[in-house]
Amino acid sequence: MVDRSLVAITVIVPTFNEGPNVAELVRRLDEALTGMPGACVLFVDDSRDDTPSIIEGVAAAQAEHGGIPVRLIHREVALGGLSGAVVEGLRAVETEWAVVMDGDLQHPPELVPVLAGKGIDQGLDVVVASRYIGGGDAGGLDGWWRKVVSTSSAVLARSMFPLRLRNVTDPMTGFFAVRPGALNLDLLRPRGFKILLEVLARGPKPLNVGEEPFVFGERFAGDSKATFTQGALYLKQLASLRFGRMSRFAIIGGMGAVLNVAIVWLLEMLGMDYRPALVIAAAVTILTNFLLQERFVFRDLIDQGRFGFWSRLGRSVAFNGTEAVLRSIAVIWVVEAAHWLPVVAQAVMIVVAFVLRFVFHSQVVYRP
Ligand code: GDD
Ligand code: MN
Repeated sequence: MVDRSLVAITVIVPTFNEGPNVAELVRRLDEALTGMPGACVLFVDDSRDDTPSIIEGVAAAQAEHGGIPVRLIHREVALGGLSGAVVEGLRAVETEWAVVMDGDLQHPPELVPVLAGKGIDQGLDVVVASRYIGGGDAGGLDGWWRKVVSTSSAVLARSMFPLRLRNVTDPMTGFFAVRPGALNLDLLRPRGFKILLEVLARGPKPLNVGEEPFVFGERFAGDSKATFTQGALYLKQLASLRFGRMSRFAIIGGMGAVLNVAIVWLLEMLGMDYRPALVIAAAVTILTNFLLQERFVFRDLIDQGRFGFWSRLGRSVAFNGTEAVLRSIAVIWVVEAAHWLPVVAQAVMIVVAFVLRFVFHSQVVYRP
């Protein structure tokens, strides 16, 4: 086992107008990292207020009393926002390990040595601090709405990367330890808030990932910088990361609908009653969709999956059948009770159903 006290770590803290939090954060990091010589704190700052001078003041004080060294990269152009700042920090790291954390004390500094220590001891590339495994808690997410958004974004991300995120319950966390040497930073396209997802998902090979629970605390001072725009950026990021799989899934679904109509039309032309024609068309479409999907969307997951062909077929058909029934009920309900226009209702439900179907297939049918 490697002696932890010999491994140096850099704590990367992206900051945007976090002045009132700097001194307290450094104080607690200093305390948490005693006995780890070679540790340092690196602020990557995009602030438009006096935060940089506050950081410089704290850095000077640290140097004076021999505390943990504090470095500052201040960026005039905030390229890539929070994620861009983290990547810039990772480029500047000179130690073998780095820990990325927020500057507002929602991430407990006491966990920094635990995360890095686990990575070192177990020979991992990344250790994720998770709010969603035993002992973790997302308490500090203000409001039920952000909890819902956070949980469902995590489910969506895990559906898109069932293999790479197999052991990751919290791909959205901003708190993790990483061995920069395991990454190819040039491949990352950082933007918005979700840097960890970028690190785990976009890279030449899967990383060795471990997790550690933590309790997401309250902000020490100031307000969150998360906005609606960040949410939109996140969806864009997911789309760009998984453009291939998602669009093939959508195209096959769309083709299925066209095929369905074409079969009904053909059978009616041949003189068949429309009712059996509908049933036959549905059966043929469900089956061809399934086969196309096996071949063109989820092929890479089949070998690693836990279910055999017939089991996958059964699950897929069961889902599609249930979904069709529930969707019709939902459409009727929003039209009757909430007075939506039927076309709008149908369009919205089709999009919702598409996402649910994708999640179900990646998480259940092709479960690794
Ligand atoms: N350099 C830089 N540039 N830092 C930024 C920027 C930016 O454009 N935007 C935000 N930050 C910094 C903040 O100053 C803070 O230190 C940290 O990034 C997190 O920002 P918050 O505004 O506190 O975000 P949050 O608490 O709402 O979100 C946190 O929790 C989410 C989990 O739900 C972050 O850790 C997210 O990454 C995480 O997904
Ligand atoms: Mn925060």
